[in-house]
Amino acid sequence: MKTIQITSIQKNYKIVIKNNLLNHLSDYLDVNKLYVIISDDKIPFEYIERVQKACPNNLIITFPEGEKSKSFEQYERIISILQDNNVTRDACIIALGGGVTGDLSGFIASTYLRGLDLIQIPTSLLAQIDSSVGGKVAINTEKAKNSVGSFYPPSLVLIDPLTLKTLSLRHFNNGMAEMIKYGMIYSKDLFDKILNDEVKENLEYFIYESLIIKKFFVENDEFDKGLRQILNFGHTYGHAYEAYYNFKRYFHGESIALGMLDVCDNEIVKEELLKILHKYNLPTKDSVDKDSLVPYIKNDKKQTKEYLNLIVVDEIGKAKIKKVRL
Ligand SMILES: NC(=O)c1ccc[n+]([C@@H]2O[C@H](COP(=O)([O-])OP(=O)(O)OC[C@H]3O[C@@H](n4cnc5c(N)ncnc54)[C@H](O)[C@@H]3O)[C@@H](O)[C@H]2O)c1
Repeated sequence: MKTIQITSIQKNYKIVIKNNLLNHLSDYLDVNKLYVIISDDKIPFEYIERVQKACPNNLIITFPEGEKSKSFEQYERIISILQDNNVTRDACIIALGGGVTGDLSGFIASTYLRGLDLIQIPTSLLAQIDSSVGGKVAINTEKAKNSVGSFYPPSLVLIDPLTLKTLSLRHFNNGMAEMIKYGMIYSKDLFDKILNDEVKENLEYFIYESLIIKKFFVENDEFDKGLRQILNFGHTYGHAYEAYYNFKRYFHGESIALGMLDVCDNEIVKEELLKILHKYNLPTKDSVDKDSLVPYIKNDKKQTKEYLNLIVVDEIGKAKIKKVRL
């Protein structure tokens, strides 16, 4: 078992990483509390049952799987279910699933009755190493991803790496793109291990190492004013690819893989990045003309009025913020 403590201006919280943790949830949940378990309809039902077992007082809400559910429509539908069931402020929301579940449920938790307690139980690799930690929660609009949201830290993050056994290989590799990003921006050592070792054989270690990097950025810049923007390496073009293809062609991590390559000017770094992306079967080429992505980049909320903060990596393990005009 590994644990990480996150210090936050809003709420300090603990991350627990432990194989088979889903069978020991009663150590962390309160039998007398109402838990609202929010999940998508593709999460293996046995995971929902295991959470239910640890909290007999529960309400299960599911939504259609996929990025399209980070929407006003699903937000409103779920809020309405909470109201129909008279869910009050002493209840706790459990986000059980991937990053879509975490972002949508987190946004609901942050706004329903001005805030309910939130526990993240991430089950995709991307959610375990990234989206469940740091407090960013959001839904999308037609025009831009994550454009309606808030900073709302969970009170606890419970990670069971064994849940990844049922995750498809494509979704596993999708999460690997974010792990590769951590190596690119912060740790040549992690990058080399991802390239040379078998990540699946030592998941607890790789999840822990990834989250230690995330911890550094979110603790030093919780509200994304400067340093934390480095975590957006690959996301400027990445988000644009996702939106250009209407969230249908690429998963989030896959588009980040393309986005990292697009901002890589150093040939040696680019070659290493290509090698590692190929290892995890991530996309490295897309036929779209870059000019067609510009309107989507302009809609991305991370730009200021005059400049775009582009994250660049000229040496693996070191990133910097470059201001560019669009
Ligand atoms: N909040 C943040 O800081 C942050 C950071 C990075 C990404 N994100 C967001 O995360 C989202 C992507 O997350 P994702 O890739 O997890 O997508 P996702 O939530 O859609 O999950 C991917 C798929 O895997 C399935 N799944 C999840 N766990 C499973 C398991 N253990 N076994 C079998 N199937 C399983 C889900 O049902 C879904 O079909 C994007 O919306 C992105 O914007 C947020």
